[in-house]
Amino acid sequence: MDTVFQREFTALFLKRKRLRLSLLAYASVSSPVVSFISYSTALDLAMVSTSLVHTVFIFNSGKDLFMQVCWYHILGIMMYIWASVHQHRCHVILANLRKSKSGKVVSLNHSIPFGDWFERVSCPHYFAELLIYVSMAIIFGFQNLTWWLVVMFVLFNQALAAVLCHEFYVNKFSCYPTHRKAFIPFLF
Ligand SMILES: NC(=O)c1ccc[n+]([C@@H]2O[C@H](COP(=O)([O-])OP(=O)(O)OC[C@H]3O[C@@H](n4cnc5c(N)ncnc54)[C@H](OP(=O)(O)O)[C@@H]3O)[C@@H](O)[C@H]2O)c1
Repeated sequence: MDTVFQREFTALFLKRKRLRLSLLAYASVSSPVVSFISYSTALDLAMVSTSLVHTVFIFNSGKDLFMQVCWYHILGIMMYIWASVHQHRCHVILANLRKSKSGKVVSLNHSIPFGDWFERVSCPHYFAELLIYVSMAIIFGFQNLTWWLVVMFVLFNQALAAVLCHEFYVNKFSCYPTHRKAFIPFLF
């Protein structure tokens, strides 16, 4: 059974996603380069902060609500923040690949990203996306079947994209780090 806490967090999660998608659509038309990532990830971080502030607010707005908070809500929120922070870092790394130190776009070519979770996998931003969806499943108390189906959808579409991206890197760069997996660190 959904709690008020779960409903509030879901609403904020969807608001964050919708805003990121609309910005992404806007930016991809207005600019052919990757600057939209900076916008969307900065916005992501802003939305996460807003979510937290809002969550703290609803925490304090009623004793009943506070009583509904369980260990899995805390675990899910921590995982959500952890994955969002790493996704943001990876988006920034990608966005900077085509820029000079002064921030000017100097190339439209693809190059090898390094740093943060890129040291383990080729597409850590996809892996972080999966973790974000799993964290929501945790917040739902592990028992929302509909959400688990959404998680499965994200798993398959992000895994496919990661495999294609990984193959591209391996074929294009002879010096590509051999220990890097495509999607899930140490596994796949
Ligand atoms: N939940 C979902 O179902 C879902 C679906 C799609 C996306 N997403 C999320 O949305 C975010 C963006 O996804 P995406 O598929 O657009 O990511 P992406 O294919 O990695 O591309 C992101 C941007 O980075 C650039 N880029 C990627 N690799 C690069 C490299 N090696 N060198 C230089 N530039 C590089 C891309 O340029 P190019 O376009 O020129 O390659 C593109 O502008 C991710 O966090 C993803 O998880 C979620």
